Amino acid sequence: MRDMAQSTVHRAQDIQQNPNQSNPVPCALSPELIITKTLDGSDTLFVPELNEHYHSTFGAVQESRYVYIEQGLMAVDAMIDPVSVFEVGFGTGLNTLLTDLTAKAQRREVRYTAIELYPIERTILESLNYTSFLSEPDANEKFMKIHEAPWEKAHQLNPHFRLTKLKADLRSFDTPESAFDVVYFDAFAPEVLPDLWTVGIFEKMFRMLRQEGILVTYSCKGIVKQNMKEAGFSIKRLPGPPGKWEMLRARKK
Ligand SMILES: C[S@@+](CC[C@H](N)C(=O)[O-])C[C@H]1O[C@@H](n2cnc3c(N)ncnc32)[C@H](O)[C@@H]1O
Repeated sequence: MRDMAQSTVHRAQDIQQNPNQSNPVPCALSPELIITKTLDGSDTLFVPELNEHYHSTFGAVQESRYVYIEQGLMAVDAMIDPVSVFEVGFGTGLNTLLTDLTAKAQRREVRYTAIELYPIERTILESLNYTSFLSEPDANEKFMKIHEAPWEKAHQLNPHFRLTKLKADLRSFDTPESAFDVVYFDAFAPEVLPDLWTVGIFEKMFRMLRQEGILVTYSCKGIVKQNMKEAGFSIKRLPGPPGKWEMLRARKK
């Protein structure tokens, strides 16, 4: 499970439930997705069928900011502009939104490609509290634009941010070579969906990164490190976001 690295105390039963919880909304991934509140006050989704959350239950926004923005996007050489990002698992669009906001704040251009096999229904997305949770006044406008952008095509959402959403299966996705500076690897946990954490998948990620490109992920499981190394990556263990001991940053040398 996503949060087992440090503790299993804060599981679904410990999280304050969103009123929407009594009214689960059906989606293609699972008969129901349940909105729950994480410990930093931001929402996430729980998939009962997989017993898995979309984000850390210790804090969804906190995890996304730390793992993907601070240790991923901000760790890309400052000389690289525009930065090309590839996200595994677009999900709620939270990582995408935080990247768009950071691109604006840093005056750095980002070209963002995200893959997602099971897009979430609009009704669920509109119930998430990310835009009221975040302090940036344009968060809501950006969130709406991100979700309104049609799939399979590049869209220049603003001068800093170009978005391409791909509805595809990562396992059969034909990845472009040496096209990205950073991969946000945000798949469901390896014990839940092991076939997204194989040597073969990491070889794909390796090929699609440029030399010195990085991959960041919240998982620090032994099998993940082992498979990344076998795929050719150099691994660095980093302190995890609040509630987790470690996370991983892998580099293509
Ligand atoms: C942990 S969630 C991602 C959370 C997301 N990054 C966010 O900010 O909300 C994992 C995502 O991977 C998607 N997924 C599962 N299997 C997939 C596959 N084979 N190919 C592409 N995406 C997949 C799920 O539907 C889910 O949205």
